[in-house]
Amino acid sequence: MHRTPTAAEIDRAANLLRAGGLVAIPTETVYGLGANALDAEAVARIYAVKRRPPTSPLIVHVDSIEMAQSLVAAWPEDAALLARKFWPGPLTIVLPKTSAIPTIVTAGLPSVGLRMPAHPVALALIRAAGVPLAAPSANRFTELSPTTADHVRRSLDGDVDFILDGGPCAVGIESTVLSLLEPQPVLLRPGCISRHDLESVIGPIDAASNPTAGAHPAPGMHARHYSPRTSLFLISNGELPEKGRGIYLQHTRPPSRRHISTIKMPSASADYGAALYSKLHEADEANLDWIAVDLPPNTPEWEAVQDRLRRAASNE
Ligand code: TXA
Ligand code: MG
Repeated sequence: MHRTPTAAEIDRAANLLRAGGLVAIPTETVYGLGANALDAEAVARIYAVKRRPPTSPLIVHVDSIEMAQSLVAAWPEDAALLARKFWPGPLTIVLPKTSAIPTIVTAGLPSVGLRMPAHPVALALIRAAGVPLAAPSANRFTELSPTTADHVRRSLDGDVDFILDGGPCAVGIESTVLSLLEPQPVLLRPGCISRHDLESVIGPIDAASNPTAGAHPAPGMHARHYSPRTSLFLISNGELPEKGRGIYLQHTRPPSRRHISTIKMPSASADYGAALYSKLHEADEANLDWIAVDLPPNTPEWEAVQDRLRRAASNE
């Protein structure tokens, strides 16, 4: 699955990062647009290239628990338990930051989202650069996240200094984001590490939290996110839009009409999540009038996939 870059590629990427450059980096979730998290000017370029509003905080990637601890004002017991269990992995933990992290990284918030990615190339790169990396997904704001180096090339080519190709991303959707700022932890964005997985380690997570609202703690964010250019419809009865040409992403239900282009999606949620963005990219590139998605069940194991599908379909 992984492609292993040469030592020379890692060196070049690390040197660029230390010099204030932007490097697209593979992680197990999606490709990130990385810059030295301690360099405010380099981080400003991330916002410019992504055309991302300055009100949307970035995730900071570390290669060790020690590096994480050096960036936060507190390392509570829950953080220690979660990091031991889920790092390296697709979990971002939000904690109070120290002044080592420039405020542009966190969109002015006094907290920072930290994660140690479970990808050997990302870890090798952070180690070689010797600095934490601020990295949002390597796509323009509101567009589909990239899960291959080719997706990055098609979206950002020319605007990044180097694309480090580590092969396709195994998890395929963005990390789970959990805030530990309040006494009761809050799930800000669902991901492949589920609410249940988290609760089995640290106990109850704020039941009142609304993941979609919580994922946008800063003003100026929209529900529309992770979207293809083509109109996307979520359907649960196989009934396709009547007009125009389209494509059907089938989970279990067959389409209402025959002779419709169909992409069969994996039946298990983890496999579905891993395939989701690459299938949406593929459907989008067909330049049709619509993409109709056969909605998977509304059960806990599908929470992250449901969240991304609803945002992809949103026009807000
Ligand atoms: O899997 C991932 O998390 C990928 C890869 C590249 O690591 N990164 C990613 O970053 O998805 P991005 O920038 O597209 O998503 C960042 C989200 C924000 O929208 C927000 O929901 C949350 O992380 N976040 C980051 N810092 C936060 C903070 N200080 N407080 C609350 N939420 C924060
Ligand atoms: Mg993103």
